[in-house]
Amino acid sequence: MKPLRRFVPLHKTKHDRTSFDCGSNALNNFFHQYARQGMDAGVNYTWVLPAAGVPKGAKKQICAWYTLSVAHIRHESLPDESARHLPHYPLPVFVLGQLAVDVRCQGQGLGDVTFVNALRRCARLSQQGQVASVAVVVDVLNDDAMQFYRRYSDFKPLDCSDAYDLPRLFIPMQVVRKL
Ligand SMILES: CC(C)(COP(=O)(O)OP(=O)(O)OC[C@H]1O[C@@H](n2cnc3c(N)ncnc32)[C@H](O)[C@@H]1OP(=O)(O)O)[C@@H](O)C(=O)NCCC(=O)NCCS
Repeated sequence: MKPLRRFVPLHKTKHDRTSFDCGSNALNNFFHQYARQGMDAGVNYTWVLPAAGVPKGAKKQICAWYTLSVAHIRHESLPDESARHLPHYPLPVFVLGQLAVDVRCQGQGLGDVTFVNALRRCARLSQQGQVASVAVVVDVLNDDAMQFYRRYSDFKPLDCSDAYDLPRLFIPMQVVRKL
């Protein structure tokens, strides 16, 4: 399965969600059942990279996808060096909630491509003055995901133990804008 070149918003009738398999039941289940509902409800937005070579009119299989939303984090949850110049009230962030690559496309660099696409989208929204944000926060679903994200040394742990049950990492927006 070869990907097209552009990420597009997940579409109910143009995209085949059911054939997607990244090897994680939790992520597969979210994508099959809840990604569209989340968009309809306005709680998160899913961007997908469709497969190339699909006959006209047929639903496109999906090579990779990610979800974005926004949230507030507590000022105290940031480490001192990141929090120093920021006001002492809840701070706006982008949230990269989930990211996955189909097993047929894994190991070919698509995980990194997908991740960078998500960060650049956040940077564009922020630079165009459309959405204020001090960082991109990533929800880390499991140990594999932690290993994948911790390869990026710009990620820092976010102290959110009292508010959220998953570990979270963040990258300051100044760093994201330089990507
Ligand atoms: C994790 C995942 C996104 C990686 O996708 P991928 O397309 O195989 O990754 P890439 O080919 O772009 O690999 C990029 C790098 O990440 C590393 N990597 C890939 N999967 C990894 C994992 N599970 N743990 C640690 N490192 C991993 C690769 O070795 C590679 O490193 P290198 O550049 O030093 O060689 C994919 O395996 C997946 O969807 N897994 C299930 C869902 C999941 O765990 N998502 C994580 C975020 S919620």
